[in-house]
Amino acid sequence: MALKNDLILRAARGEKTERTPVWLMRQAGRILPEYRAVRNSLSGFIELVTTPELAAEVTIQPVDILGVDAAIIFSDILVIPEAMGLPYEMVEKKGPFFPETIKTAEDVAKLKVADVASDLGYVLEAIKITKKELNNRVPLIGFAGAPFTIFCYMIEGSGSKTFSKARRMLYQAPELAHQLLQKITDSTIAYLKAQITAGADLIQVFDSWAGILPPTQYESFSVPYMKQICDAITEVPKTLFAKGAYFSRHSLAALDCNAIGLDWNMDIAESRKLCAGKTLQGNLDPCALYASDSEIVKATKSMLDLFGFEKHIANLGHGVYPDINPEKVKVFIETVKEYSSNK
Ligand code: CP3
Repeated sequence: MALKNDLILRAARGEKTERTPVWLMRQAGRILPEYRAVRNSLSGFIELVTTPELAAEVTIQPVDILGVDAAIIFSDILVIPEAMGLPYEMVEKKGPFFPETIKTAEDVAKLKVADVASDLGYVLEAIKITKKELNNRVPLIGFAGAPFTIFCYMIEGSGSKTFSKARRMLYQAPELAHQLLQKITDSTIAYLKAQITAGADLIQVFDSWAGILPPTQYESFSVPYMKQICDAITEVPKTLFAKGAYFSRHSLAALDCNAIGLDWNMDIAESRKLCAGKTLQGNLDPCALYASDSEIVKATKSMLDLFGFEKHIANLGHGVYPDINPEKVKVFIETVKEYSSNK
């Protein structure tokens, strides 16, 4: 059965579309009271992620409530470390926490390459249920963290402003860092392929901590692993989002991917030059959604004008913040839909 709305897939492939497609990073989650109702009935985030019927339900909520042009499977990038043998906890109001972290060569040797069917079957099941319930209304986005971002969490054990423990390994034990990055990459490729087999229509790789590296280290510790992922995934369109890594736009655009995500600090015209031929995704400032409706309309139109009306997937420059009023998100989405129609 064909998708009824495949705007995102066509835009990702660079085709001209009737209008600009739109979705939001982190659209499934705390901005929606409907999400909080499901989440509050459970012991916590991890129970929601590992219960396929409920994960599917909250994946579809933003499609019904906000009118986005794609769903993104409700999960987290941290399911990969867990599947490799490093479980995480999600601490209320604080974020992820790993009781054990990677410190030594023995720790890296002990990790396994994820066995996707047995360790991540719950995500695959959630994708299958979501595809069935979406009934071809919109495409489903699968995702994973970039190897470097996952590496940061596995060594640091939690969020951090500097990720200096993780970055220390790049200087003190670069070969060990590469071994760990390779294991994460092998797990990630298997995971993304399984998501596609289960029904994901396109995939996005989130390199959320890319921006903390100097450009030369980004070239050696992230880009080669992004390349392996791009070369291995040939089945569906691929988006790479390296937050803060304005210096790497040209090297990511040189990879076999379809779209490059921009954060709100990245200049659109400059990005068009650096990423010639690729579709761009983004990049309204997430805080613009705190503004009045008329200011949101103005900022959204000006963003759309700067991207032009092809090879663009509208989004924010990062995930939507949890205290944003969903009505403001709707103003953004409706503006994209109306203003870009038949341009
Ligand atoms: O709607 C969607 O985008 C799909 C779901 C999704 C989640 N996490 C759910 C989630 C996606 C795509 C992610 C990706 C993710 N997770 C990233 C990459 C994107 C980015 O924001 O840069 C990162 C770095 C993580 C790690 C993570 N997960 C952190 C740092 C936190 C705590 C801070 C926060 O944003 O809450 C999480 C928790 C998390 N992941 C929540 C959700 C809905 C909140 C948990 C809750 O409901 O209490």
